[in-house]
Amino acid sequence: MRISVIGCGYLGAVTAACLAQLGHEVVGVDVDAAKIELLAGARAPFFEPGLDEILGSATQTGRLRFSTDIADVEGAAVHVIAVGTPQRKGENAADLSYVDAALEALLPHLGPDDLVVGKSTVPVGTAARLAARLDEAGCGATLAWNPEFLREGYAVRDTISPDRLVYGVAAGEEGVRAAKLLDEVFAEALAHDTPLIVTDYATAELVKVSANAFLATKISFINAMAEIAEAAGADVTALADAIGHDTRIGRRFLNAGIGFGGGCLPKDIRAFTARAEELGRGESIAFLKEVDKINLRRRERMVEMVVESLGGTVYQKKVTVLGLAFKPESDDVRDSPALDVAVRLNGLGAHVVATDPAAIPNSIRLHPQLGFATDTRDALRGADAVVLVTEWAQYRSLDPVEVGQLVRDRLILDGRNVLDPQTWRQAGWTYRGMGRP
Ligand code: UDX
Repeated sequence: MRISVIGCGYLGAVTAACLAQLGHEVVGVDVDAAKIELLAGARAPFFEPGLDEILGSATQTGRLRFSTDIADVEGAAVHVIAVGTPQRKGENAADLSYVDAALEALLPHLGPDDLVVGKSTVPVGTAARLAARLDEAGCGATLAWNPEFLREGYAVRDTISPDRLVYGVAAGEEGVRAAKLLDEVFAEALAHDTPLIVTDYATAELVKVSANAFLATKISFINAMAEIAEAAGADVTALADAIGHDTRIGRRFLNAGIGFGGGCLPKDIRAFTARAEELGRGESIAFLKEVDKINLRRRERMVEMVVESLGGTVYQKKVTVLGLAFKPESDDVRDSPALDVAVRLNGLGAHVVATDPAAIPNSIRLHPQLGFATDTRDALRGADAVVLVTEWAQYRSLDPVEVGQLVRDRLILDGRNVLDPQTWRQAGWTYRGMGRP
């Protein structure tokens, strides 16, 4: 199929590359010329394992191109809207201006049989509004909503082999036709029995935000248990293992620590809360405000623990911060709890030396006041305290004996509960986890 993808940020670039890899002929369009130039040279503008390879192979087949000219979408039968929906400045609600602008830009180029597919995460009710705009424009094109569930770090895999597909379509013939076109787009995944849910626009939009709300709630639930465990002298990690054996609960997404961040979960739960309030149902998901608050408290707690462990002040102490990205296998520092902890410690007068395998350039751009070291050993040398805040594999596998030779004081604070306390303590370290005795 010939497909256009509007917006070549994280979602759009991955979607365009993967659709081309699956055999479609794809053009990715973005207003950012620098981004398009990188992508056209088969280079990802951000860190995502496997994406460069897919960009390279798809570009070589001639099936994948990138352009800054919206007119290049002409000839495509399916147009995917994959632009961002960030949090509005000073508000909880989502900023839909990029989605609206994408549709307006597409309108003059749409044919009567074309399908516009929304993938961006939007407040429920947006698709109906955009469908009405398409009707009003009278171009004859149809709208479908097809949320994505890709995780950073696994985006290529999640796009090529999704764990489910959701189509939100219009009622009647129009919806049947839209679903048929989407079946062609996702023929490969459907051939592998990927579960498919065909539903209305509102449900499709809600599937995405409620999935993220559930995941955020699960993380904040275990972090709330960590707060109780701290007060009671219990171990939240053992607790998570024990309750996780109940298959109704499950062990995944029950890792307590400094909490969730990134470009999705925090803004999505806030936008959801704002939308529910608009719908007169604010009460129904008022708990998401608690979820948000618990999450934000964990960063504060991490900083408090460093201060306590260093005898009441971090002033002029050298603190090594291991990790800056909001999670491993990513260079994304949007709303990153790890970067936040580094910034707060620096604000308290600590000499912070932060390191990360991928996220240093993005962190420097936002917080040039921090100290950075690209080499882990350099970062660790002479530290009064070591704080692990993003659980990259290379930090999880650090050898406490070897690291012990580099630091000034053997004090480690494990903000992701990924180190074995016993091994570290046996090597002469003071180990503190979050919600662990
Ligand atoms: C999330 C959703 O998982 C994905 O389905 C959606 O499409 C986009 O948002 P992502 O933002 O890539 O994906 O990250 P995710 O893997 O969900 O992690 C989010 C945050 O939660 C990270 O900061 C991570 O460190 C934290 N987390 C995750 C925990 O603190 N504990 C856990 O047990 C799991």
